[in-house]
Amino acid sequence: MKPPPSSSTSSAIPLRKIPPFLFALLAFILFVTILYGEDFSCIFGQFDSDHHSHLHTISTKKNSEKLAFAIGETERGCDVFNGRWVRDEEARPLYEEWECPYIQPQLTCLEHGRPEKEHQHWRWQPHGCSLPSFNATLMLESLRGKKMLFVGDSLNRGQYVSMICLLHRVIPEDAKFMKTLGPLTVFTAKDYNATIEFYWAPFLLESNSDDAVIHRVTERLVRKGSINKHGKNWKGADIIVFNTYLWWMTGLRFKILQGSFDDEEKDIVTLPTDDAYRMAMKSMLRWVKKNMDPNKTRVFFTSMSPSHEKSIEWGGDPKGNCYNETTLIEDHEYWGSDSRKSIMGVIGEVFSKSRVPITFLNITQLSSYRKDAHTSIYKKQWSRLTPEQLANPVSYADCVHWCLPGLQDTWNELLFAKLFYP
Ligand SMILES: *[C@@H]1O[C@H](CO)[C@@H](O)[C@H](O)[C@H]1NC(C)=O
Ligand SMILES: *[C@@H]1O[C@H](CO)[C@@H](O)[C@H](O)[C@H]1NC(C)=O
Ligand SMILES: *[C@@H]1O[C@H](CO)[C@@H](O)[C@H](O)[C@H]1NC(C)=O
Ligand SMILES: *[C@@H]1O[C@H](CO)[C@@H](O)[C@H](O)[C@H]1NC(C)=O
Ligand SMILES: *[C@@H]1O[C@H](CO)[C@@H](O)[C@H](O)[C@H]1NC(C)=O
Repeated sequence: MKPPPSSSTSSAIPLRKIPPFLFALLAFILFVTILYGEDFSCIFGQFDSDHHSHLHTISTKKNSEKLAFAIGETERGCDVFNGRWVRDEEARPLYEEWECPYIQPQLTCLEHGRPEKEHQHWRWQPHGCSLPSFNATLMLESLRGKKMLFVGDSLNRGQYVSMICLLHRVIPEDAKFMKTLGPLTVFTAKDYNATIEFYWAPFLLESNSDDAVIHRVTERLVRKGSINKHGKNWKGADIIVFNTYLWWMTGLRFKILQGSFDDEEKDIVTLPTDDAYRMAMKSMLRWVKKNMDPNKTRVFFTSMSPSHEKSIEWGGDPKGNCYNETTLIEDHEYWGSDSRKSIMGVIGEVFSKSRVPITFLNITQLSSYRKDAHTSIYKKQWSRLTPEQLANPVSYADCVHWCLPGLQDTWNELLFAKLFYP
């Protein structure tokens, strides 16, 4: 994995300069390491890229019995994100597209002409254990009198809608409703006095792309230190699921606003994208530390959702993309673009230095095998397609978003597993 550029704070300290208390601390760590050899190798070895990461457990390992919502444990040492896709014609999909009225027309692939539904019949099988079955009743009972909030971009909105689709079947027709107002969409389960909400904030921080409907701006700009702009609206949530990634991907560098959006002369600096992203991660952690009670609430962060824009990355047609793909990538080492790797490095670095308890949903690798699961051309189009486009479907295929039902239901099965069996 490429080391993240700049801002390295740790450099070697000459031994004689170490103060005595630090020596004592180091000696103690060594002692404990020997005593509990295995546990520590797992904690310290988490960024060895040859091993599968245990990052998602570092914050939860110590007191897993004390974590809010936990009712059990995943088999010891099982990394649920490390596994394989297995065909399951019987139990998948978990619901049908026509059954769930909440799916936005950008994700209803069958309605928009997808000719087959092969992508719906895959189940994620971790190598070391089995995932618990998603239990909608348990989820709703646990949310009684509570609020679950998804914050991020359209990919997180997809996961949010998948969650609603997984839950809504057990709620009677007249006891549920969904409403959208500005950046916030609220689904209410009346009998449970529970809400499941989505808040549009593609960068988490304040940006010029914050309008939930009209956000296609030519030059993206994010304001430094502005997490409370949106964060004030997230307070009081019992479970939060964050994501942010794709909107940062405009090139090697990213523009950051230092002052305010109202300044007549804007003070703008350009940072390497990794550094801009790191700034957002740190802001998020600070916000969580300040606003979320670790004894009563849970916070999740979903890693980058991979796109499949270039078939050449998986050895396909140089002109192709996810269009007309109906099979999975079988190469287990497959990862895709380099920017994903370096952003994953930033996430790993920032989270490992922090003690803020966030459960990491590392869905990037398992999703990167799923070139078959994108909406491709089978979605509602924003504008009328030109004859040139129609003649060449590859040119307008959406290889970013995912059909529902589909891959994102698995993300929620993993969320379910980590929420109740950390
Ligand atoms: C689902 O959870 C509910 C509530 O905890 C429980 O009563 C039920 O037995 C569970 N269903 C399954 C299939 O495990
Ligand atoms: C419903 O839940 C909210 C918190 O989300 C709580 O303040 C309120 O008292 C609850 N109402 C009832 C009737 O339980
Ligand atoms: C969480 O619980 C522990 C033990 O019950 C307590 O010592 C600690 O102060 C609590 N933390 C907060 C933020 O309430
Ligand atoms: C789709 O792929 C199949 C093979 O997988 C190929 O035979 C077919 O021509 C392709 N269709 C289009 C429209 O590209
Ligand atoms: C996420 O999982 C992938 C594949 O298992 C691994 O390479 C990567 O290091 C993990 N990322 C983090 C931050 O744990």
